[in-house]
Amino acid sequence: MFAAVIAAGAALLIAVGVGAWAAGHYSAETVTVGSGAAATVPSSAQVDPNVAAGAHTFVQFACAQCHGDQGKGGVSPDVPALDVAGKTLTAAQLRHIIDHGLGVSSNPTKPYMPVWGAVISTRQVNYLIAYLHAGLPPVPDATPPVVPTGQGTVVAGGALYVKYGCINCHGPNGLGGVPNPLSPDKTIPPLSGADFFGEFNTDAKIADVIRSGSVIGKAPIVSMPHWGGIIPAQDIQALVDYIKTFKSS
Ligand code: HEC
Ligand code: HEC
Repeated sequence: MFAAVIAAGAALLIAVGVGAWAAGHYSAETVTVGSGAAATVPSSAQVDPNVAAGAHTFVQFACAQCHGDQGKGGVSPDVPALDVAGKTLTAAQLRHIIDHGLGVSSNPTKPYMPVWGAVISTRQVNYLIAYLHAGLPPVPDATPPVVPTGQGTVVAGGALYVKYGCINCHGPNGLGGVPNPLSPDKTIPPLSGADFFGEFNTDAKIADVIRSGSVIGKAPIVSMPHWGGIIPAQDIQALVDYIKTFKSS
Protein backbone atom coordinates (compact mmCIF):
# COMPACT_ATOMS: atom_id res chain seq x y z
CA MET A 1 0.00 0.00 0.00
CA PHE A 2 2.77 2.38 1.06
CA ALA A 3 4.83 1.36 -2.02
CA ALA A 4 1.86 1.97 -4.28
CA VAL A 5 1.41 5.49 -2.93
CA ILE A 6 5.08 6.24 -3.57
CA ALA A 7 4.81 4.79 -7.09
CA ALA A 8 1.72 6.88 -7.80
CA GLY A 9 3.48 9.95 -6.45
CA ALA A 10 6.50 9.28 -8.63
CA ALA A 11 4.29 8.82 -11.69
CA LEU A 12 2.59 12.11 -10.89
CA LEU A 13 5.96 13.88 -10.61
CA ILE A 14 7.06 12.44 -13.96
CA ALA A 15 3.77 13.46 -15.56
CA VAL A 16 4.09 17.01 -14.23
CA GLY A 17 7.70 17.13 -15.42
CA VAL A 18 6.81 16.01 -18.94
CA GLY A 19 3.87 18.40 -19.05
CA ALA A 20 6.05 21.32 -18.01
CA TRP A 21 8.71 20.36 -20.58
CA ALA A 22 6.11 20.05 -23.32
CA ALA A 23 4.51 23.37 -22.39
CA GLY A 24 7.87 25.14 -22.52
CA HIS A 25 8.85 23.33 -25.68
CA TYR A 26 5.69 24.18 -27.59
CA SER A 27 5.60 27.77 -26.44
CA ALA A 28 9.18 28.15 -27.67
CA GLU A 29 8.15 26.68 -31.01
CA THR A 30 5.14 28.98 -31.21
CA VAL A 31 7.50 31.93 -31.27
CA THR A 32 9.58 30.65 -34.18
CA VAL A 33 7.14 28.54 -36.21
CA GLY A 34 3.87 30.38 -35.64
CA SER A 35 0.93 29.29 -33.55
CA GLY A 36 -0.91 27.52 -36.37
CA ALA A 37 1.97 25.20 -37.20
CA ALA A 38 3.06 24.50 -33.63
CA ALA A 39 0.38 21.87 -33.11
CA THR A 40 1.17 19.91 -36.30
CA VAL A 41 4.97 20.08 -36.54
CA PRO A 42 6.34 17.36 -34.26
CA SER A 43 9.74 17.76 -32.66
CA SER A 44 12.42 15.34 -33.87
CA ALA A 45 12.41 13.68 -30.45
CA GLN A 46 8.89 12.37 -31.08
CA VAL A 47 9.57 10.62 -34.40
CA ASP A 48 10.24 6.88 -34.56
CA PRO A 49 13.68 6.54 -36.24
CA ASN A 50 12.37 4.00 -38.78
CA VAL A 51 9.50 6.28 -39.76
CA ALA A 52 11.88 9.25 -39.95
CA ALA A 53 14.30 7.27 -42.16
CA GLY A 54 11.33 6.35 -44.35
CA ALA A 55 10.31 10.00 -44.76
CA HIS A 56 13.86 10.92 -45.79
CA THR A 57 14.09 7.92 -48.15
CA PHE A 58 10.77 9.04 -49.67
CA VAL A 59 12.37 12.40 -50.44
CA GLN A 60 15.68 10.91 -51.63
CA PHE A 61 14.01 8.68 -54.25
CA ALA A 62 11.69 11.48 -55.38
CA CYS A 63 8.57 9.54 -54.40
CA ALA A 64 7.32 12.94 -53.24
CA GLN A 65 7.80 14.47 -56.72
CA CYS A 66 5.20 12.09 -58.22
CA HIS A 67 3.00 11.27 -55.20
CA GLY A 68 3.13 14.72 -53.59
CA ASP A 69 4.61 15.84 -50.27
CA GLN A 70 3.81 13.20 -47.65
CA GLY A 71 2.13 11.22 -50.46
CA LYS A 72 -0.86 13.59 -50.51
CA GLY A 73 -1.20 13.44 -54.31
CA GLY A 74 -2.20 16.40 -56.46
CA VAL A 75 0.80 16.22 -58.84
CA SER A 76 -0.80 14.33 -61.75
CA PRO A 77 -4.18 12.63 -62.25
CA ASP A 78 -2.23 9.46 -63.17
CA VAL A 79 -0.42 9.22 -59.81
CA PRO A 80 -2.45 8.17 -56.75
CA ALA A 81 -2.09 9.63 -53.26
CA LEU A 82 -0.53 7.07 -50.93
CA ASP A 83 -2.67 7.39 -47.80
CA VAL A 84 -5.00 4.56 -48.89
CA ALA A 85 -2.16 2.25 -49.95
CA GLY A 86 -0.42 2.96 -46.64
CA LYS A 87 -3.55 1.91 -44.73
CA THR A 88 -4.62 -1.06 -46.82
CA LEU A 89 -1.54 -2.75 -48.31
CA THR A 90 0.59 -5.24 -46.39
CA ALA A 91 4.36 -4.90 -46.09
CA ALA A 92 4.78 -7.67 -48.70
CA GLN A 93 2.47 -5.91 -51.17
CA LEU A 94 4.22 -2.55 -50.72
CA ARG A 95 7.65 -4.16 -51.11
CA HIS A 96 6.53 -5.83 -54.34
CA ILE A 97 5.23 -2.54 -55.80
CA ILE A 98 8.36 -0.58 -54.87
CA ASP A 99 10.78 -3.26 -56.14
CA HIS A 100 8.87 -4.15 -59.34
CA GLY A 101 7.01 -0.96 -60.25
CA LEU A 102 3.36 -0.76 -61.28
CA GLY A 103 1.45 0.01 -64.46
CA VAL A 104 4.69 0.11 -66.48
CA SER A 105 3.56 1.48 -69.82
CA SER A 106 5.11 2.39 -73.13
CA ASN A 107 2.88 5.47 -73.46
CA PRO A 108 5.38 8.30 -73.03
CA THR A 109 2.75 10.74 -71.80
CA LYS A 110 1.67 8.50 -68.94
CA PRO A 111 3.83 8.25 -65.82
CA TYR A 112 4.14 4.80 -64.29
CA MET A 113 5.52 3.61 -60.98
CA PRO A 114 9.23 3.00 -61.68
CA VAL A 115 11.02 -0.28 -60.96
CA TRP A 116 13.35 0.41 -58.02
CA GLY A 117 14.56 -3.09 -57.07
CA ALA A 118 18.09 -2.82 -58.49
CA VAL A 119 18.62 0.65 -57.03
CA ILE A 120 17.04 0.65 -53.56
CA SER A 121 18.12 -1.58 -50.65
CA THR A 122 15.94 -3.94 -48.61
CA ARG A 123 16.56 -1.78 -45.58
CA GLN A 124 15.48 1.40 -47.38
CA VAL A 125 12.28 -0.36 -48.47
CA ASN A 126 11.71 -1.37 -44.81
CA TYR A 127 11.92 2.31 -43.85
CA LEU A 128 9.52 3.31 -46.63
CA ILE A 129 7.04 0.67 -45.43
CA ALA A 130 7.31 1.93 -41.83
CA TYR A 131 6.62 5.47 -43.07
CA LEU A 132 3.64 4.42 -45.25
CA HIS A 133 2.16 2.28 -42.46
CA ALA A 134 2.54 5.20 -40.01
CA GLY A 135 0.32 7.27 -42.32
CA LEU A 136 3.09 9.40 -43.94
CA PRO A 137 3.35 11.82 -40.98
CA PRO A 138 5.24 15.13 -41.23
CA VAL A 139 8.92 14.63 -40.32
CA PRO A 140 11.16 17.66 -39.70
CA ASP A 141 13.71 18.36 -42.46
CA ALA A 142 12.43 15.57 -44.75
CA THR A 143 12.13 18.04 -47.60
CA PRO A 144 13.70 18.11 -51.08
CA PRO A 145 16.53 20.58 -51.76
CA VAL A 146 15.51 24.16 -52.35
CA VAL A 147 15.86 25.10 -56.03
CA PRO A 148 17.66 28.47 -56.19
CA THR A 149 15.95 31.09 -58.33
CA GLY A 150 17.54 34.04 -60.11
CA GLN A 151 20.90 32.27 -60.42
CA GLY A 152 20.48 30.77 -63.87
CA THR A 153 19.30 27.43 -65.20
CA VAL A 154 22.53 25.54 -64.51
CA VAL A 155 22.26 26.24 -60.78
CA ALA A 156 18.55 25.37 -60.75
CA GLY A 157 19.23 22.21 -62.77
CA GLY A 158 21.81 21.02 -60.24
CA ALA A 159 19.21 21.15 -57.46
CA LEU A 160 16.53 19.58 -59.68
CA TYR A 161 18.90 16.68 -60.47
CA VAL A 162 18.78 15.82 -56.75
CA LYS A 163 15.14 16.83 -56.18
CA TYR A 164 13.87 14.48 -58.95
CA GLY A 165 16.20 11.71 -57.83
CA CYS A 166 18.11 11.52 -61.15
CA ILE A 167 21.26 11.20 -59.03
CA ASN A 168 20.12 7.87 -57.55
CA CYS A 169 20.11 6.20 -60.96
CA HIS A 170 22.66 8.20 -63.00
CA GLY A 171 25.17 8.96 -60.23
CA PRO A 172 26.69 12.22 -59.05
CA ASN A 173 27.82 14.41 -61.97
CA GLY A 174 26.11 11.96 -64.35
CA LEU A 175 29.04 9.59 -63.98
CA GLY A 176 26.85 6.48 -64.02
CA GLY A 177 28.01 3.15 -62.65
CA VAL A 178 24.69 2.13 -61.10
CA PRO A 179 24.08 -1.58 -61.81
CA ASN A 180 21.07 -2.73 -63.85
CA PRO A 181 22.12 -6.39 -64.13
CA LEU A 182 19.40 -7.71 -66.44
CA SER A 183 19.44 -4.85 -68.94
CA PRO A 184 21.44 -5.22 -72.19
CA ASP A 185 24.06 -2.73 -70.93
CA LYS A 186 24.13 -4.25 -67.38
CA THR A 187 24.22 -0.72 -66.03
CA ILE A 188 22.10 2.43 -65.99
CA PRO A 189 23.76 4.71 -68.58
CA PRO A 190 25.94 7.65 -67.52
CA LEU A 191 24.86 11.13 -68.64
CA SER A 192 28.44 12.05 -69.47
CA GLY A 193 31.24 10.97 -71.74
CA ALA A 194 31.78 10.91 -75.51
CA ASP A 195 29.18 8.19 -76.20
CA PHE A 196 26.42 10.02 -74.36
CA PHE A 197 27.11 13.43 -75.90
CA GLY A 198 27.61 11.81 -79.32
CA GLU A 199 24.09 10.36 -79.22
CA PHE A 200 22.40 13.20 -77.31
CA ASN A 201 23.92 16.07 -79.26
CA THR A 202 21.02 18.54 -79.06
CA ASP A 203 18.93 20.00 -76.23
CA ALA A 204 15.82 18.57 -77.86
CA LYS A 205 17.15 14.99 -77.82
CA ILE A 206 18.05 15.20 -74.13
CA ALA A 207 14.73 16.85 -73.24
CA ASP A 208 12.77 14.25 -75.24
CA VAL A 209 14.25 11.28 -73.40
CA ILE A 210 13.63 12.94 -70.01
CA ARG A 211 10.00 13.53 -70.98
CA SER A 212 9.27 10.18 -72.59
CA GLY A 213 11.58 7.88 -70.63
CA SER A 214 11.94 4.33 -71.81
CA VAL A 215 10.51 0.92 -71.35
CA ILE A 216 13.47 -1.33 -71.94
CA GLY A 217 11.78 -4.20 -70.18
CA LYS A 218 9.72 -5.08 -67.16
CA ALA A 219 11.02 -5.63 -63.64
CA PRO A 220 13.61 -6.56 -62.53
CA ILE A 221 15.05 -4.29 -65.24
CA VAL A 222 15.17 -0.65 -64.15
CA SER A 223 13.92 1.69 -66.87
CA MET A 224 13.90 5.44 -67.25
CA PRO A 225 10.69 6.87 -65.73
CA HIS A 226 8.30 8.93 -67.87
CA TRP A 227 8.73 12.42 -66.44
CA GLY A 228 6.42 14.18 -68.93
CA GLY A 229 3.33 15.29 -67.02
CA ILE A 230 5.43 15.42 -63.83
CA ILE A 231 8.34 17.80 -64.50
CA PRO A 232 7.36 21.25 -65.82
CA ALA A 233 8.95 22.33 -69.15
CA GLN A 234 11.22 24.98 -67.64
CA ASP A 235 12.58 22.44 -65.13
CA ILE A 236 13.32 19.99 -67.96
CA GLN A 237 15.27 22.75 -69.75
CA ALA A 238 17.20 23.49 -66.53
CA LEU A 239 18.05 19.78 -66.20
CA VAL A 240 19.29 19.76 -69.81
CA ASP A 241 21.47 22.82 -69.16
CA TYR A 242 22.91 21.18 -66.04
CA ILE A 243 23.56 17.83 -67.79
CA LYS A 244 25.48 19.70 -70.51
CA THR A 245 28.00 20.78 -67.84
CA PHE A 246 29.06 17.14 -67.28
CA LYS A 247 32.32 15.72 -68.67
CA SER A 248 32.01 15.21 -72.41
CA SER A 249 35.08 13.08 -73.03
C1 HEC B 1 7.74 8.89 -61.93
C2 HEC B 1 6.65 8.97 -60.98
C3 HEC B 1 6.68 8.08 -59.77
C4 HEC B 1 7.67 7.99 -58.82
C5 HEC B 1 9.01 8.68 -58.79
C6 HEC B 1 7.16 7.09 -57.80
N1 HEC B 1 5.93 6.63 -58.14
FE1 HEC B 1 4.77 5.35 -57.04
N2 HEC B 1 3.38 5.32 -58.52
C7 HEC B 1 3.42 6.09 -59.67
C8 HEC B 1 2.25 5.79 -60.48
C9 HEC B 1 1.91 6.39 -61.85
C10 HEC B 1 1.49 4.82 -59.77
C11 HEC B 1 0.19 4.16 -60.19
C12 HEC B 1 0.51 2.93 -61.04
C13 HEC B 1 -0.74 2.19 -61.49
O1 HEC B 1 -1.65 1.99 -60.66
O2 HEC B 1 -0.77 1.80 -62.66
C14 HEC B 1 2.25 4.56 -58.53
C15 HEC B 1 1.82 3.67 -57.55
C16 HEC B 1 2.43 3.50 -56.31
C17 HEC B 1 1.93 2.67 -55.23
C18 HEC B 1 0.60 1.89 -55.25
C19 HEC B 1 -0.50 2.85 -54.84
C20 HEC B 1 -1.88 2.27 -54.86
O3 HEC B 1 -2.80 2.94 -54.34
O4 HEC B 1 -2.05 1.16 -55.39
C21 HEC B 1 2.81 2.77 -54.19
C22 HEC B 1 2.71 2.10 -52.82
C23 HEC B 1 3.87 3.66 -54.63
N3 HEC B 1 3.62 4.07 -55.92
C24 HEC B 1 4.95 4.02 -53.84
C25 HEC B 1 6.04 4.79 -54.30
C26 HEC B 1 7.26 4.98 -53.56
C27 HEC B 1 7.52 4.47 -52.15
C28 HEC B 1 8.08 5.72 -54.36
C29 HEC B 1 9.53 6.13 -54.11
C30 HEC B 1 10.46 5.03 -53.86
C31 HEC B 1 7.36 6.00 -55.60
N4 HEC B 1 6.14 5.41 -55.53
C32 HEC B 1 7.87 6.75 -56.66
C33 HEC B 1 4.41 7.00 -60.02
C34 HEC B 1 5.59 7.22 -59.33
C1 HEC C 1 14.84 4.60 -61.65
C2 HEC C 1 16.09 4.97 -62.25
C3 HEC C 1 16.13 6.25 -63.07
C4 HEC C 1 15.84 7.53 -62.66
C5 HEC C 1 15.30 7.97 -61.31
C6 HEC C 1 16.17 8.38 -63.76
N1 HEC C 1 16.65 7.66 -64.81
FE1 HEC C 1 17.29 8.41 -66.59
N2 HEC C 1 17.53 6.50 -67.28
C7 HEC C 1 17.38 5.35 -66.55
C8 HEC C 1 17.65 4.20 -67.40
C9 HEC C 1 17.59 2.74 -66.99
C10 HEC C 1 17.98 4.71 -68.68
C11 HEC C 1 18.34 3.91 -69.95
C12 HEC C 1 17.09 3.70 -70.74
C13 HEC C 1 17.29 2.91 -71.99
O1 HEC C 1 18.42 2.48 -72.26
O2 HEC C 1 16.28 2.72 -72.71
C14 HEC C 1 17.92 6.17 -68.56
C15 HEC C 1 18.20 7.04 -69.59
C16 HEC C 1 18.32 8.43 -69.45
C17 HEC C 1 18.82 9.32 -70.48
C18 HEC C 1 19.31 8.88 -71.86
C19 HEC C 1 20.71 8.29 -71.68
C20 HEC C 1 21.02 7.13 -72.60
O3 HEC C 1 22.24 6.91 -72.84
O4 HEC C 1 20.10 6.45 -73.07
C21 HEC C 1 18.79 10.61 -69.96
C22 HEC C 1 19.22 11.89 -70.63
C23 HEC C 1 18.26 10.49 -68.61
N3 HEC C 1 17.99 9.16 -68.34
C24 HEC C 1 18.07 11.56 -67.76
C25 HEC C 1 17.45 11.46 -66.50
C26 HEC C 1 17.09 12.61 -65.69
C27 HEC C 1 17.35 14.05 -66.03
C28 HEC C 1 16.50 12.09 -64.57
C29 HEC C 1 15.85 12.86 -63.41
C30 HEC C 1 14.76 13.75 -63.82
C31 HEC C 1 16.51 10.64 -64.68
N4 HEC C 1 17.09 10.29 -65.88
C32 HEC C 1 16.03 9.76 -63.70
C33 HEC C 1 17.02 5.27 -65.22
C34 HEC C 1 16.63 6.34 -64.43
